[in-house]
Amino acid sequence: MTRIYLDHAATTPVHPEVAHVMTEHLSNQYGNPSSIHHYGRESKKLLDEARNLMASSINADFSSIIFTSGGTEANNLAIFGSVYARSNKGKHIITSSIEHHAVLHPFEQLEAEGFEVTYLSVDPSGVISVEDVQAALREDTIFVSVMTVNNETGHRQPLEEIGELLADHQAVFHTDAVQAFGVEKIDVDALRVDLLSVSSHKIYGPKGIGFLYKRNEVDLKRRVFGGEQERKWRSGTENTLAIEGFKQAVNVLKRDMGQRTEHYQKLTDTLLKELDERFIVYEVNGEDSKKVPNIMNISFPGMDVEIFLMNLDLEGIAVSSGSACTAGSIDPSHVLKAMYGEEDPKLRNSIRFSFGIDNTEEEMVVAAEKIKKIIERLQG
Ligand SMILES: Cc1ncc(COP(=O)(O)O)c(C=O)c1O
Repeated sequence: MTRIYLDHAATTPVHPEVAHVMTEHLSNQYGNPSSIHHYGRESKKLLDEARNLMASSINADFSSIIFTSGGTEANNLAIFGSVYARSNKGKHIITSSIEHHAVLHPFEQLEAEGFEVTYLSVDPSGVISVEDVQAALREDTIFVSVMTVNNETGHRQPLEEIGELLADHQAVFHTDAVQAFGVEKIDVDALRVDLLSVSSHKIYGPKGIGFLYKRNEVDLKRRVFGGEQERKWRSGTENTLAIEGFKQAVNVLKRDMGQRTEHYQKLTDTLLKELDERFIVYEVNGEDSKKVPNIMNISFPGMDVEIFLMNLDLEGIAVSSGSACTAGSIDPSHVLKAMYGEEDPKLRNSIRFSFGIDNTEEEMVVAAEKIKKIIERLQG
């Protein structure tokens, strides 16, 4: 059976050029970047090159990049590190109710520790409102975290406007850019963010590596103690193999970004056209004009997401509900819940499609055909 992978927001395969660079590195480079001899200096050079590339990819300084084990650690370092460092300035923090759990759960932990949290909601557009941010801001607000692009629906959040709002406020501004980095040009100055999280395995790099951008003036309370790596913000011998792979993934991304986004849009348009031509009843969740082209959350009235996903998998189509899977059953999506309310059937009948560079328009035709077949079978 030919399988079609449409779950790139969960993770992407490793790009062949990345795999090549990593294989070479694995066989030939092993120096510890902290060692002062030849081997160490060679590794340090590669590390510096990678840091330079990461920094330039978001218009930041070399010294503002902290390599982490991925998006989750970058978010945790940004949130706990910044909130603890500023706890003498206030106890109020703000985030949105549609964040990834790597942001929501740290906020819940801080709430349990006595911080006051405002969770901004969204309307069915999938986008938080700047007025809500403004209304939530208080003199004692010390931290605001709003994601750049939502991982379940693909909706861009109004970061520039929030950045402007916060320009004269004491609150530190963090964004989880894990889903945006591969599809949007990111400029930390234009967004006016102080902290920004990125992960490698969403952009055809290896898993277990990412970075936190930290504006130089922003202070963090350290989370990991040990050696002097990452200017002491994140001690521990650097994962040079993964960083080499990540670097190559960013190089390829820089080269291919334009054609990738065009390709994603074509795939989106083809899938929707093919669904229409088969008279399949569906609705794209959220406002279409405000989303990235590679993620699409679609509601199929009358379907049950768990059974639908299982049947799609049996037919070789790998998609996801976009929400957490606990002990084999799917929790209703907290993102769709925020958009539509607890009782909306969309919470039980929506599927996330997320496209990648290897997907073809022919695959969209096959996917639509299989979706039709399954719906007909399940709905009699
Ligand atoms: C928006 C968002 N933030 C954070 C993460 C976590 O990143 P990582 O898997 O690198 O820890 C993900 C991964 O799904 C994500 O989509």
